[in-house]
Amino acid sequence: MTSIAMLDPSLPSRFADGSAYEVFARLRSEAPVHYCAESRFGPFWSISLYDDIVEIESKPQLFSSEAKHGGVSIIDVDPAASAYFESFIMMDPPHHTGKRRVIAPAFNPSEMARLSQSIRDRTSAKLDALPRGETFDWVSTVSIDLTIDMLAILFDFPWEERHKLRLWSDAITSLDMIANRPEERVAHLFAMASRFHELWQERSAAAPGSDLLSMMIHSNDLAQMDAAEFMGNMATLIVGGNDTTRNSMSGMVEAFSLWPEEWDKLCANPEIIPNAASEIIRWQCPAIHMRRTALEDVEFRGHQIRKGDKLVLWYISANRQEDVFPDGDRFLVDRQNARRHLSFGYGIHRCVGARLAELQIQILLEEMIKRNMRVSLAGPVDREPHPFLAIVNSAPVMTMFKSSSII
Ligand code: HEM
Repeated sequence: MTSIAMLDPSLPSRFADGSAYEVFARLRSEAPVHYCAESRFGPFWSISLYDDIVEIESKPQLFSSEAKHGGVSIIDVDPAASAYFESFIMMDPPHHTGKRRVIAPAFNPSEMARLSQSIRDRTSAKLDALPRGETFDWVSTVSIDLTIDMLAILFDFPWEERHKLRLWSDAITSLDMIANRPEERVAHLFAMASRFHELWQERSAAAPGSDLLSMMIHSNDLAQMDAAEFMGNMATLIVGGNDTTRNSMSGMVEAFSLWPEEWDKLCANPEIIPNAASEIIRWQCPAIHMRRTALEDVEFRGHQIRKGDKLVLWYISANRQEDVFPDGDRFLVDRQNARRHLSFGYGIHRCVGARLAELQIQILLEEMIKRNMRVSLAGPVDREPHPFLAIVNSAPVMTMFKSSSII
């Protein structure tokens, strides 16, 4: 067994084959604040306990999200890169505060109520059109379409061009492109910025609307952005609004296939659907970690952290911490404290789109139950070796009626 001192929890393969859970169980018990001196992402501290993550996220004045210090992922932002990003997710107060405030009303309860019927209509149409009597890929048939359509609605993006949002989202997050095809990735990012710039110009001349672009145009804090910030904010909204919810919808079919009795429980008690949505997000943990950078030398739990050190806050670990979530590897739709998960982060950057993500998953579950549907895996789930996002590439499934006949 690798000695704890030599352990590199960030190895991407761990997140594809599921071995990360054992590694983090070991870190929680042997070295909850752990230093990895060498990795493909450089040296970093691993913070793997729930309360420690909460404490670090509560102190943005000491532990920064700023792009210029490296940003919010173990993969450093490179200020010299041609596609350099700045985004409000990678800003500390005071800059972060006003910018988040511009976006937040798009996710308030009245907006959620307004959007819910269109989410239900699209979800229903998608489920009614599913292939019958054959194996199909849940990710490309259901999760991707539902979340890309949602994103297009949020931006009021031209409907017939919405497939581009997927292309750009995948390019932003692809480790393969970052490492091996940077020019191709940069080309996608510039195409994204250029198309959004055209829409920005068009909407600037129009009356204020309720879409995200219009909200930014008619605000004090986001109306003027330089190229790096414009690209970064679009990228944050695209990845935030799409990948994470997509991967929750994909992860849930694996969870219900591993524990089919949980689906029975949900069908018998549909009132626990909101709790089940939280449990899906806890168990799948779509954002595996967030990262902060120390702004000063500081002692933390007996360890000397130096100014400039990278701290990786492993949500995937906190979400399965034994004394917070007993039997945390187990997926339980009626888990009492499922909502306490850290998948949305904590503190001033806590996910601004959390309600929308939950709503989309809840409606998907409701509409599946209404149709007496059961979805079961028909082959192995393919997960991306990625230390930042829990990406499900494909999930072959069969759908069945309650009566067990294949539809
Ligand atoms: C299950 C789905 C989702 C998960 C797991 C998730 C996770 C996260 C996490 C971990 C953060 C950073 C928290 C931190 O640093 O403490 C975040 C921030 C953010 N998320 Fe989400 N997210 C999801 C869905 C969404 C959706 C649907 C949107 C809508 C567009 C969205 C937009 C954002 C934005 C704009 C931020 C930056 C907030 C800030 O810096 O103040 N997310 N999200």
